[in-house]
Amino acid sequence: MRVHDLPTPALVVEAALLKANLATMASARPGAALRPHVKAHKCTALAREQLAAGHRTFTCATAREVAGMVAAGLGEDLLLANEVLDLSRLRALADLAPAARVTVAVDSEATIDAAASAGVREVLIDVDVGLPRCGCAVDDAAELAARARSRGLHVRGVMGYEGHLMVVTDRDDQRAQVAEAMDRLLLAHAVVGGDVVSAGGTGTYDLHDRVTEVQAGSYALMDTHYAQLGLPFGQALFVEATVISVRERWAVADAGLKAFGMDHGNPTVLGGRVLYLSDEHVTIVPDEGRAVRPGDRVRLVPAHVDPTVALHERMHVVDGAEVLESWPVDLRGW
Ligand SMILES: Cc1ncc(COP(=O)(O)O)c(C=O)c1O
Repeated sequence: MRVHDLPTPALVVEAALLKANLATMASARPGAALRPHVKAHKCTALAREQLAAGHRTFTCATAREVAGMVAAGLGEDLLLANEVLDLSRLRALADLAPAARVTVAVDSEATIDAAASAGVREVLIDVDVGLPRCGCAVDDAAELAARARSRGLHVRGVMGYEGHLMVVTDRDDQRAQVAEAMDRLLLAHAVVGGDVVSAGGTGTYDLHDRVTEVQAGSYALMDTHYAQLGLPFGQALFVEATVISVRERWAVADAGLKAFGMDHGNPTVLGGRVLYLSDEHVTIVPDEGRAVRPGDRVRLVPAHVDPTVALHERMHVVDGAEVLESWPVDLRGW
């Protein structure tokens, strides 16, 4: 099949760029030094490529991602790096053992008690390292670990996601802030114990020498938000759209707000400028001298990869004009 024959809007992934991104990360953080986060791509076929690059452990954000990874035979060591109180979901995760190893993040008595009563076996103590989201205070980590152990849970260690530091454009500043955040995580680790110290993401993947693993996800596909850091990962993900209407000063293509995660701003378009998006449309101003006709294809680059991918049912792996494979985005949902 040719890319031009794909119904649009279509998520397309340039095979060579994806391959290069996976290889670059695998050489920087080989094997278990990276626990790839599947939330960024929600695709077991892509996770299999990460396995082929040497990573056997994965991070998930939802119970659905965990279950889908296990069903795909990728359940050797999964971390649900998120708090869950829903007992039916936790029981379903517990039931995946012994075929799969599932570790769940906990940050309170409530999440520990829920995990224990649902039959979950292993947890990480999630520690607040500065992002106002999940994670316990460093001072509470020891007590929570003791409670988890008293409830029969195996405490594998700690995690702390410094999401507020992913895109700090001054690298020295970023390095210093990440070091402070990791000081907090290591203080917690000293009292919690365990083999695992898990942190980090694409924006900080190379700033960690005191953790056992980094949870990066976006590096595989990338977006314009991360591109501003100048990381050695290329833009592999695009949304292909068809020009459906042309006026003298603008053209309209068929990929709108329902095809892009917009929290990091508008996508950019190759060969033009995005004016604005509405539900089903993107209005673009083509570069000077570029003639655009109805039926032409345009490629847009998402500003935020994770929520963009989650809006699409499939991603098409392409080599220029040729579609090599179509992968279901099979980890969507909760
Ligand atoms: C818990 C957690 N770990 C790691 C990441 C890093 O992901 P990325 O590499 O896509 O920034 C995220 C992203 O939101 C996250 O929520």
